[in-house]
Amino acid sequence: MASYKAFYIQANDDGTFRRSIVQRDTGDLPQNEVLIRVRYSSLNFKDAMSAHGNSAVTRAFPHQGGIDAAGEVVESTSEAFSPGDKVIVTGYDLGMNTAGGLAQYIRVPAAWVLPCPRGLNPKRSMLFGTAGLTAQLCINKLVQMGVTPDSGQVLVTGATGGVGSIAVALLAHRGYEVVASSGKAEQAPMLREIGASEVIDRGELGEANRRPMLKERFAGAVDVVGGDTLANVIKSLQAGGSAACCGLVQSPALETTVLPFILRGVNLLGVDSVEIALAEKQAAWKQLARAAKLPAIERLNTTISLQQVPAALETLFRGGVVGHTLVNVGR
Ligand SMILES: NC(=O)c1ccc[n+]([C@@H]2O[C@H](COP(=O)([O-])OP(=O)(O)OC[C@H]3O[C@@H](n4cnc5c(N)ncnc54)[C@H](OP(=O)(O)O)[C@@H]3O)[C@@H](O)[C@H]2O)c1
Repeated sequence: MASYKAFYIQANDDGTFRRSIVQRDTGDLPQNEVLIRVRYSSLNFKDAMSAHGNSAVTRAFPHQGGIDAAGEVVESTSEAFSPGDKVIVTGYDLGMNTAGGLAQYIRVPAAWVLPCPRGLNPKRSMLFGTAGLTAQLCINKLVQMGVTPDSGQVLVTGATGGVGSIAVALLAHRGYEVVASSGKAEQAPMLREIGASEVIDRGELGEANRRPMLKERFAGAVDVVGGDTLANVIKSLQAGGSAACCGLVQSPALETTVLPFILRGVNLLGVDSVEIALAEKQAAWKQLARAAKLPAIERLNTTISLQQVPAALETLFRGGVVGHTLVNVGR
């Protein structure tokens, strides 16, 4: 057994939650097959929801947070893994109700574990993290529906966030003309630097609009925002265009008519990075490995220590983080 540091969420008697770094013991971890020494994790909106007691994410507290992790196998009762293997774990129940990756150790089922693909190591994989995996899955769905760089502009909403900023960088790298929608006007130079051709204010698409359709504009969209924004995105797609929907930072509600679907043949594509088959995750990680050395990916990441996680999650919860946050859990 080993003692280790973990980001821990505890419920107070008055219904509030406190977030701190505590010392735990590997004997406290669930009895799963693979014990992993975590080297890097990353911050995600879902981590902030769990840290604030959102029962749709985490039902029982106290809880060790963190929905992704990368590091080395220490012990494995599964023949699929040996000590020293470099591995990635994202999604499934990690960091929801299973002790998560914002900690120096996790113990998880072998069926959740992926070997780091060639071109990635634990640090490089968490420069993408769950956000990068989700951005890649969104792009894959758009490509499957025939959205190519020649089709026209592709919109990314919540563009300075984790999923959004990585989507901007990956799309631009593939030659797409990217329109970034953001509430942070001062970050327009950063968004252009990572590949956006144009930056629009999030207010342009963020208000409820009674018109059933708007001017045709985008060939595709990656939407992390939901709510009125997604409704307006759907109304602004070109005929045959597609929107990949993966988030709900504005609202989980979606109010629309069928008109864009039946008059313009547009497509709304749901994206889940959590429960999909491990093989699909593995294929997407191989794609990310090919983008691993993009300067834009380094540019949009900020590295923090485990000690800085509680404060950084507060900022993330309020929509104030710019780019993606890599967590060096060894520090
Ligand atoms: N489906 C999946 O598997 C999956 C995986 C990962 C994430 N997600 C979801 O995707 C969403 C984004 O996750 P993330 O980790 O990228 O979060 P994040 O880093 O907090 O980014 C969200 C961004 O959305 C914008 N935003 C915040 N509040 C907003 C509001 N009220 N209205 C409109 N825009 C707002 C902000 O960007 P600007 O200031 O630039 O506008 C913010 O940076 C979350 O809902 C998360 O749960 C889903």
